Amino acid sequence: MSGTFSPSSPPSPEPTQGFLRACLRLPVAETPLWLMRQAGRYLPEYRQVRAKAGDFLSLCKNPGLATEVTLQPVRRFGLDAAILFSDILVVPEAMGMSLRFSEGEGPILDNPLRDRAAVDRLRIPDPETALGYVMETVARIRRELPASVPLIGFSGSPWTLATYMVEGGSSKGFRWIKAMMYNDPGTLHALLERIADSVAAYLNAQIRHGAQAVQIFDTWGGVLTPQAFREFSLAGMARILSRLERRGSDGSRVPVILFAKGCGTMLEAMADTGCEVLGLDWTTPLDEARRRVGDRVALQGNMDPAVMYADAAVVRREATAIIRAFGANPGHVFNLGHGMAPDMDPERVVELVRAVRETSREILANPR
Ligand code: CP3
Repeated sequence: MSGTFSPSSPPSPEPTQGFLRACLRLPVAETPLWLMRQAGRYLPEYRQVRAKAGDFLSLCKNPGLATEVTLQPVRRFGLDAAILFSDILVVPEAMGMSLRFSEGEGPILDNPLRDRAAVDRLRIPDPETALGYVMETVARIRRELPASVPLIGFSGSPWTLATYMVEGGSSKGFRWIKAMMYNDPGTLHALLERIADSVAAYLNAQIRHGAQAVQIFDTWGGVLTPQAFREFSLAGMARILSRLERRGSDGSRVPVILFAKGCGTMLEAMADTGCEVLGLDWTTPLDEARRRVGDRVALQGNMDPAVMYADAAVVRREATAIIRAFGANPGHVFNLGHGMAPDMDPERVVELVRAVRETSREILANPR
């Protein structure tokens, strides 16, 4: 039982790493930061390794090379956390779908799921075998990272994964999955439950192999009505949370970050799942979010990623404004409101890291 003291569950030691401390709302001297999609095509050293791997999916399936690209942004910028290099769509593949990434078109899942029979044919994969290459990568990253830098594992949310599995790839209108939701909600629920159980086992395996925090990406939660969000997205994330091991192999607490893009109206309901951290996109001000969820959860975010296209002085100004909006309170992990894009300049990240460190150090040392 969570919160119950027993000899088999001694109280977790307090972490020393800033990122984990902020997730648990413990005091820090500087606001920790990492960036969604911190590894990727905007880095020339990533493009080099990806060329060596041949294609993106082969890179994900090569533990040595996936480890290398995970470490690249940490080394280059001195970020406060590493995120496993992989993709959310390896789970649908392990469940039995065929996945490919076509240049310029994004991901393609063949034979998209359109009826109950197709859903019933999906497996709940054993992550140690079907996703063993991810586990090998997690263990290897953890071995090669300095102890001061925590490793974040991740998965897509059941709803977000289901959009790709039912649409057959990226979508704009979500025509097929929304038709299923309205015409045949039972089939969609069966699919979401099967994905949630696969994801829970997958994240627990990442935790066993060395992930020290996990983030659930609900990239497409924002296309649902508030009522549908509760029923078709939040419920699946809550199901995962209820099944997660919240302790690492060394007994330390493993924080869960929920990032639901475009779901700023749903923050209170998301905090009710028992997650430690809410990831915010740039449409909800941090101070407003904090007033609404109080001290129940830490907050992660939330600079508009497009700021990275502006001049260095603008990056500094915008980062400073976000740090000031949060103020001298515990529980802030700096991040972008979504990911880095391939055409961004790595020099902007250098400026961002400097601004976040300098401003937060000053504000946290002089609380008003
Ligand atoms: O954040 C990180 O650095 C870790 C790695 C990571 C990737 N994808 C690498 C990637 C993570 C956490 C993801 C998650 C992911 N993948 C999401 C959820 C997060 C989000 O962005 O909202 C989604 C929706 C996907 C699905 C996906 N993967 C799409 C739609 C695409 C194609 C878009 C594109 O940029 O071409 C990918 C490919 C992908 N995933 C790349 C990377 C670095 C680009 C692949 C390449 O060409 O090298």
